[in-house]
Amino acid sequence: MRTPLVAGNWKMNGSRESIKELINGVVEGAKSLTGVVVAVCPPSIYIADVTAVTSGSSVEVGSQDACTELKGAFTGETSIEMVKDFSCKYAIIGHSERRSIYGETDEVVAEKFTTVKNSGVIPIFCIGETLEEREGGITEEVCARQIDAVFAAQGDDAFAGSVIAYEPVWAIGTGKTASPEQAQSVHAFIRQHLAKRNADIAEKVQILYGGSMNPANAKELIGQPDIDGGLIGGASLKAEDFMAVCQAGQ
Ligand code: PGA
Repeated sequence: MRTPLVAGNWKMNGSRESIKELINGVVEGAKSLTGVVVAVCPPSIYIADVTAVTSGSSVEVGSQDACTELKGAFTGETSIEMVKDFSCKYAIIGHSERRSIYGETDEVVAEKFTTVKNSGVIPIFCIGETLEEREGGITEEVCARQIDAVFAAQGDDAFAGSVIAYEPVWAIGTGKTASPEQAQSVHAFIRQHLAKRNADIAEKVQILYGGSMNPANAKELIGQPDIDGGLIGGASLKAEDFMAVCQAGQ
């Protein structure tokens, strides 16, 4: 039995003031939830403020990215060891915005995955196709290629103890959600693809859906057999909406 995980990806949003209000609302709301893991991924500069509030609560914290390297002359980067220093449990890796805006290749993402995993932080590894790729009928091929880059770097047991987020790029921040059937079909494919390497790990990996998940559609999406929670962007910026999605994950 996989415990659902609902993680908020705050992206580059908020201020010190607004984040304080948001995290207090999430910690308060999470008190009444059972059977779902709640996590938030703030901009890295606010991680310390957020963990000061989440400490002692059930809410977990993650970073939105991590450098491939652990330390040294990498101006502007944040190391996974630094993130760990602030009690982060998760790190989002390979988000489509990192891939498309910052040119992160499958290989760079796989390198980041390795660095994060070796540090003991849980990678939330993002994959997904663009609209063009979906229309071209190569959704599964794209997801398999993104996953295989990690297998190439880490071997058959690569995904033990990690999380995968399937995020169709055309659904991110667009208000267009994959239908529960569309999402379930790709999630099932991902699990089968993982099972070719290690069936036991494939059965245990949490596969989250991301892409305009909100209080109105969360229950049906998370209700699908291979959807184990969500990675939430826009709807994670208001405590009330985010908690409604978390509730759907229960
Ligand atoms: P969205 O973002 O919920 O705003 O579509 C999801 C994500 O990018 O992780």
